[in-house]
Amino acid sequence: MNPRNNHRLILFPHPFQGHMNSMSQLGQILYARGFSITIVHTNFNVPDPSSHPHFTFRSIADGIDQSEASTLGTRGLIALLDVRCAVPFEECLREMVSSQGGDAAPIACLIADSLFSFTCSVAQRLKVHALVLRTGGAVYLYVATIFPVLKEKGYIPVLGSQSEEAVKEFPPLLVKDIPAVDPQKPEVIFRILDNLIAVTRDSSGVIINTFDGLEHSDLASLREVFSVPFFPIGPSHKFCVTSPSSSSQEEDRKCISWLDKQPPKSVIYVSFGSLAAVSEAEMLEIALGLADSEQPFLWVVRPGSVRDPEWLEKSPSHFLWALEGRGKIVKWAPQKEVLAHPAVGAFWTHSGWNSTLESISEGVPMLCMPRFSDQGVNARYVSDVWRIGVHLNGGLERENIARAVKRLLAEREGEEIRERALVLKEKASVSVRQGGPSYQALDALVSHILSFK
Ligand code: UDX
Repeated sequence: MNPRNNHRLILFPHPFQGHMNSMSQLGQILYARGFSITIVHTNFNVPDPSSHPHFTFRSIADGIDQSEASTLGTRGLIALLDVRCAVPFEECLREMVSSQGGDAAPIACLIADSLFSFTCSVAQRLKVHALVLRTGGAVYLYVATIFPVLKEKGYIPVLGSQSEEAVKEFPPLLVKDIPAVDPQKPEVIFRILDNLIAVTRDSSGVIINTFDGLEHSDLASLREVFSVPFFPIGPSHKFCVTSPSSSSQEEDRKCISWLDKQPPKSVIYVSFGSLAAVSEAEMLEIALGLADSEQPFLWVVRPGSVRDPEWLEKSPSHFLWALEGRGKIVKWAPQKEVLAHPAVGAFWTHSGWNSTLESISEGVPMLCMPRFSDQGVNARYVSDVWRIGVHLNGGLERENIARAVKRLLAEREGEEIRERALVLKEKASVSVRQGGPSYQALDALVSHILSFK
């Protein structure tokens, strides 16, 4: 038996899908390095224990149900989970700390999602070391650190703003890329970002799903701002031998056999992650734009991605041409496998960090349509810094969509973008190989955890 099985890690994921995926990948990686893994999870979005038979699961009562959650919006839900989880989490951790010494391995440390603000102070009270997992990129965390300066200079946009004004102090960002203030609740975004900075500062280290070859200078900037160690171990899914789904949605694997029948690099894969929603009118424009692009497409329409959840079922005539013709629509796809498929030539994405990193890992050019949070910053880096994708300019209209898809899949510009994407894919792959920067960061993380007494 690996002697490190004597060390138990308590993992506390945030229940948003992108965050749960990252934490469960981290659990798998650290389990493979000999640690025992206990996942403490909320009752909202419960992970499937059968996907991780080697982990122990403990739930805490957050008192949030799906119908309450659906009225709140993403930021409201982040804020409410932060309030409701603090006490039950502390009780759960206290109970685990006090029951040490029995069969369970002693707790080496807590690893909590950085969206929860209370975890480091709870851990401090209970004399447990706490690391945080940052599931987004380094650049967005850096933007969070300069948010007060951006505010002072008058750059913070109001929700819905499409201002193309350049942020002179932080090229190539435009004002519309920065997280916006909701005029109804202007304080919420400031509180979320303040909490993110505080929990990062108070932690014993930050595990971040990025790699040095991608975000070298932003990681360097973060190391200047924070005095805690950073462990960039991305793309973390590439360390996992298997990638069991941590989603409550069932993956529709039929899309893989459909992809098998498509010509190489011909398909546009369309998915807007686990949270973003569009209106019914926008759905129709997407469908018509994809049809006009004359490229095969694979489109994820998950329940909830249209504001009327029954819309897809109620409107089959809009989609018959898609199901029978060039396209394939699924409710949830095995995304990493899809992006690695030779038939996929481009990814139309909402620019969530996991999706961005998964696309980079497979060298797939991106069509970016950021919606909220870190997505504007991620998309700007994709288009203007790494130059491995383009923005969907001019709005969600069928002509713009068709033009942008053709640009990526049928024009010389798309080929140049693909060449750059393949260079970055190679860097990502080198990163996780033995001796590569992320591999070394993982070794350093394991040593760091083992150094806790
Ligand atoms: C959210 C935010 O939107 C994002 O900006 C932030 O960085 C993380 O939290 P989400 O919107 O879900 O996440 O996007 P993303 O980070 O891209 O995560 C989506 C995950 O779901 C990816 O790992 C993707 O592989 C997976 N997915 C998505 C599937 O497995 N199948 C699908 O059909 C769609």
